[in-house]
Amino acid sequence: MNIVLLYYSGAGNTKYIAQKMLTKLNERFHYVELSRITHKPLTKMDYEIDLFIVAFPIMNFEAPRLVTETIQQLQAMDKPIAYLCTKAFMSAEAIAKLSTISTQHGLRTVAKLDLYMPSSDGLAFLAKKGSKLEKVFKGFHSRNIGLKLDRFIKKSERNRQIKVYKKWYSYLSFLIPKKTKRTIDEQFTKFIPRFHVLNDSCVQCMLCVHNCPEENIRFEEGEIKFGSNCDMCLKCLHHCPVDAIQIGNLTTGKSRYNKVEVPI
Ligand SMILES: Cc1cc2nc3c(=O)[nH]c(=O)nc-3n(C[C@H](O)[C@H](O)[C@H](O)COP(=O)(O)O)c2cc1C
Ligand code: SF4
Ligand code: SF4
Repeated sequence: MNIVLLYYSGAGNTKYIAQKMLTKLNERFHYVELSRITHKPLTKMDYEIDLFIVAFPIMNFEAPRLVTETIQQLQAMDKPIAYLCTKAFMSAEAIAKLSTISTQHGLRTVAKLDLYMPSSDGLAFLAKKGSKLEKVFKGFHSRNIGLKLDRFIKKSERNRQIKVYKKWYSYLSFLIPKKTKRTIDEQFTKFIPRFHVLNDSCVQCMLCVHNCPEENIRFEEGEIKFGSNCDMCLKCLHHCPVDAIQIGNLTTGKSRYNKVEVPI
């Protein structure tokens, strides 16, 4: 099959899973184009595509905005699509919502999978380096990921449309007061102007500039500067080699994501 595997990833969990999946798909003699989702439009795909696979992290109970926008770009008629998300605790209706959008764009959902992975937000905001909490956040992941990926791939190959239902707990969302939900959303928006770089530590490697999916980080007048077009993926924060990126003082002394080896 000709497969386009699109992934979005901040700290690296979803990238790690996408790469594992790439290896498995190649072993099954599929031709795969692996592509990272950023704000740039998809490059023109000029060959027959048999399947799209989209992998993304859950952020604030939803798929990242860029993922939703990418699905809207896939105006291919009657193509199969399979969804995989990584999450720290709750994926809510994220895949069900994407599936509805993709159906409107002529795509048929044929497989879905959610996997527990280390918490990228928990590590950055809650877990001090070397703490027990850091070990818990880094160590936590779904069991038998390899088997789950194999089943997901086989289901995708079978190419039968599936119905994606909301998670059972989504029906209880009326129990969460609207104000609480709004406060969580607002909380994330409030973090964005607080991104800054500790200039004494920064070694000007430009990794953050190149890595940001939104091109929100610039090097100007000898300094790294952040704009306001941030989607809180935390890629810059977790991958700065000298931990120079901070969000206010909320992330000082807290853990950073290093490559997490999950047994598969
Ligand atoms: C801003 C932000 C919000 C998040 N919100 C959720 C959430 O609502 N539910 C959840 O289960 N995990 C949430 N997470 C955790 C990530 O979904 C999880 O760690 C994921 O595996 C990160 O993947 P990545 O490393 O590819 O970015 C959030 C992470 C971030 C950075
Ligand atoms: S990744 Fe860190 S060290 Fe490199 S330019 Fe960005 S802030 Fe500076
Ligand atoms: S500024 Fe950092 S957190 Fe915001 S989108 Fe860019 S890489 Fe992600």
